[in-house]
Amino acid sequence: TTQYEFILTSRPADGVGQITLNRPKALNALSTPLFTELNAAVKEFDEDDSIRALVLTGSERAFAAGADIKEMKDKQFSDVFKGKFLESWSLLTTVRKPIIAAVSGYALGGGCELALMCDIILASPTAVFGQPEINIGVIPGGGGTQRLARAIGKSRTMEITLTGRNWTAKEAEQWGMVSRVVAEGEGEVVKEAVKMASVIASKSAIAVQAGKEAVNAAYEHTLNEGLRYERRIFHSLFATHDQKEGMSAFAEKRKPTWTHS
Ligand code: CAA
Repeated sequence: TTQYEFILTSRPADGVGQITLNRPKALNALSTPLFTELNAAVKEFDEDDSIRALVLTGSERAFAAGADIKEMKDKQFSDVFKGKFLESWSLLTTVRKPIIAAVSGYALGGGCELALMCDIILASPTAVFGQPEINIGVIPGGGGTQRLARAIGKSRTMEITLTGRNWTAKEAEQWGMVSRVVAEGEGEVVKEAVKMASVIASKSAIAVQAGKEAVNAAYEHTLNEGLRYERRIFHSLFATHDQKEGMSAFAEKRKPTWTHS
């Protein structure tokens, strides 16, 4: 596998690819070079048939403390506009395979937005979420206002965006922003994320991809369009080997053997 400077990649379990943000001195601040590597690693795992689920994490202290403020501070409007600054960050949302964010410590600004771009978020009790952009004279630019509003509602999103106050793992869980807060302990959130990714990796990859696509449609379509979309994808799965295998295995009281086709 490729060697990177600001991230680490590994295969912690069968079918699972892990990306660890690794810029510890800057609390994993998301610089352009870091994001270029992250996108490359995500693409590499997405194209690798032996990988069926991804885990994205940072360190105990920080998932990511946001976009790199030092890199941004002298940029002009013309730079960010012409360069479509932050647009490439959303590549993550276009991959086929599920991505689980394992969040420990700070997930601020772009770090919080990065977690929100993932399909599932697991939080350590130490996780601190925030969109502090208002404190540095801007607003979230990596999808924060939009994805948060959908995840936790308007009033909370507005409060957070306009006051810049952080929120805890517990609040994130109560608000439905994260799947759950894991037990305390070093490495616990990554362990749980890898476990969850392994479960996903043990299913039919074709059904998993369909499931991810259908859930995502809930955020794009009206209810009626979404329901029709879901039903059509559901219908299409009857053209797969894994549907025949899964249903036959149930009827024959045996475990299915997926061919991911
Ligand atoms: N960009 C660049 N460098 C950062 C950074 C960031 N977002 N966050 C932390 N760092 C650097 C610090 O500058 C410091 O570097 P030096 O040692 O060279 O001084 C190092 O990481 C350690 O940080 P601190 O000394 O500040 O650590 P702390 O424990 O005292 O505080 C913190 C931690 C509260 C997270 C604090 O670092 C902080 O407030 N960071 C900025 C958070 C922020 O505003 N994020 C939003 C960025 S804007 C954005 O993301 C836009 C968008 O929508 C995409």
